This record gives sequence, C-alpha cells and structure tokens, in this order.
Amino acid sequence: MIRSVFLGSGSALPSRCVTNDDLAQTVDTSDEWIRERTGIGQRYFAGEGETTSTLAIAAARAALENAGITIADIDLIVLGTCTPDLTFPSTATIVQHALGGSGFPAFDVAAVCSGFLYALTTADAMIRAGMAKKALVIGAETLSRLIDWEDRTTCVLFGDGAGAFVLGAEDATEGEERGILFSQLHADGSHRDLLYTDGGPSTTQTVGLMRMKGREVFRHAVNNLAQVLEDVLEKSGHVPADIDWVVPHQANFRILDATARKLGLPMERVIVTVDRHANTSAASVPLAFDAAWRDGRIKRGDLVVLEAMGGGFTWGASLMRV
Ligand code: ACO
Repeated sequence: MIRSVFLGSGSALPSRCVTNDDLAQTVDTSDEWIRERTGIGQRYFAGEGETTSTLAIAAARAALENAGITIADIDLIVLGTCTPDLTFPSTATIVQHALGGSGFPAFDVAAVCSGFLYALTTADAMIRAGMAKKALVIGAETLSRLIDWEDRTTCVLFGDGAGAFVLGAEDATEGEERGILFSQLHADGSHRDLLYTDGGPSTTQTVGLMRMKGREVFRHAVNNLAQVLEDVLEKSGHVPADIDWVVPHQANFRILDATARKLGLPMERVIVTVDRHANTSAASVPLAFDAAWRDGRIKRGDLVVLEAMGGGFTWGASLMRV
C-alpha cells in the first residue's frame, strides 16, 4: 500500500511587519481591542515586488532544502490560494517555472482559508493513486490586497505569507502508522454571504474586496472545526489524548481556544502563531507547522492534526504521523 509521508517544510513572510499600533495610526482601532478580540499583535504585508508567487517560491525552496531534495525530484505541485498573482495562468505554474521544473502537473486549488488542507488532501490522493512520487504542497496568500482599509472589522485580521510541505510516496506495511493517516474535507455553499469578496472576473471584472459577518463566521468556525476534528480522530481510531500537536488555521486566538476546549485538549498542545502572523488564509497552517517543526516542538513520530475553515464555507482536517 502506498502512503504519503512528510519529508520537510518551509515558509516565507514578506519583509514589512506592521504592528497593531502601526495600524491604529490610520484605522480607528487600538492594540488593546485587536489583542483582546483576536490575539493578534502584528502581521506581515507584501510590499513592492512581493506577490503570492514570490512568497510561494521562497517557501517551496525552503521546503525542498529541508527535505534534502531538489525540484528535479518533484513530479506534482498543488497550491492553495485565493489571491493568485493573475486570474490565469495558475500561481502553481508560475512557481513550477521559477523553480526550474517543467512537464509535471501543477495547479491551484481555491478553498480560501482551507486551501492548504484541500491542496494537501488532493496531493495525498494523487500520491496514493500512484500519479506522483514527490509533491510540493503550498499555501500562499497576499490577503492584504483584498482588504478594504475603510472597514476596521476586517482590515485588522489578516496578513500575508506562504508555507510549503514536501510529501513523498512510501510503501507502508499494513497497520504501520506513518504519514497522512486520514483526511476529511467539507463545503457548504449556503453560507457564502457570510464571507466573500464583492467582485470577481466573471461579475465585476475586478478582484473585489473582502466582506465578512465576523460573529456568525466565528460561531460556525468553532462548531465545524470541533466536529471535523472529532470525526477525523474517531474514524482513524484515535482519541484526543493521542494527539501531540494540533496545528489549526490561525484565524483568531479565541477560535483556537474554544475549539481546543470543546475537544478537551490543553492549549499547550496547540501551535499558535496568530499573534505574530495574523490570519494568512491558506498559508496559515503550513506557516504555523513550519515554525514548530523548525524550533523542535514538532518531532519525527509525533501525531499531528491540521485543521482549517474558510469562506464558502469550506473546512477540513488531516491527521498525520510526522
Ligand atoms: N477596532 C475597534 N473596534 C472595533 C473593531 C476594531 N478593529 N472592529 C469592530 N469594532 C467594534 C464594532 O464596531 C463593535 O462596536 P459597537 O459595539 O459599538 O457596535 C464592537 O467592536 C464589537 O464588534 P463585534 O463585531 O461584535 O466584535 P466581536 O467580538 O464579534 O469580534 C471579530 C469581531 C474579531 C471579527 C470576531 O467576530 C471574529 O474573529 N470572527 C471570526 C472571523 C474570522 O476569523 N474570519 C476569518 C476568515 S474565516 C476563518 O478564518 C475561520
């Protein structure tokens, strides 16, 4: 039986760090309000010359180096983003070319903040099906370019960045627990008016700006994430106590805290980077994972669950033995 195993990760942040106090210079807000409601202290914004693809390329290079392989070994790129460089070609093909790759499949998936979970699950399925042996899975975003700076309820929440995993195909003996063990994805389009952009190529011929009903998104996020985590644990034959680390989508500290409480998991086992990175949409899970992988908290053999929820709604979780 073929399994997808984790070979390495990488991440990249833009050069410009913006604190809450910096934002309060131009927006009617305060460091106190943002920290209390969200746990965010700062975020990074892409500057001139920085785009979703430049961040994705930097993260992919770091992941290849971490895995000890080169682009010549890669035969698949799946990239989650809702802020592509261009409407087309896909950002994945821009990344493929920049890294010196060619010929193998490379494509974007659009699932907003769940983009990395959707990309990871797609790459895992293709590896299991024998369609790829080594995959780059990337989450990369420049959400700052969809922000309405007049809307203080959204503009304080987001940041830019990218994260990447290298997955490899491995023969696994039956029962051996290694690599991606179980993933579950969901979508429910009936909630599209709670979180969306008010434009797009086929409607306004613009990219539009982000619109969100924060309270309602919050309520759905906690319920959906707790449910999908419960499902993934149950279906893979695990209980919360087995989990070494939860790597959640970094939307809001209060969502992370409420979800962990529902599952009875202590916050010491939850990776938190929302204070430093804010909500980087599809980039947030691999960015958070990479921070904990590189500082030695996440180790080989650890049982890690990744989870995310975003516009659509879309949501999902993936259980992985590192
Ligand atoms: N600074 C100061 N005051 C503000 C700000 C701000 N940036 N934004 C809103 N306020 C004010 C409001 O105007 C309101 O004032 P009022 O009581 O005088 O009317 C007050 O603060 C409370 O506003 P609420 O929207 O009710 O605040 P809430 O406690 O719900 O927090 C928040 C808002 C942080 C957006 C929260 O609802 C949230 O995090 N929701 C989840 C949204 C999310 O994470 N979306 C990301 C995409 S989906 C995902 O990633 C899961």
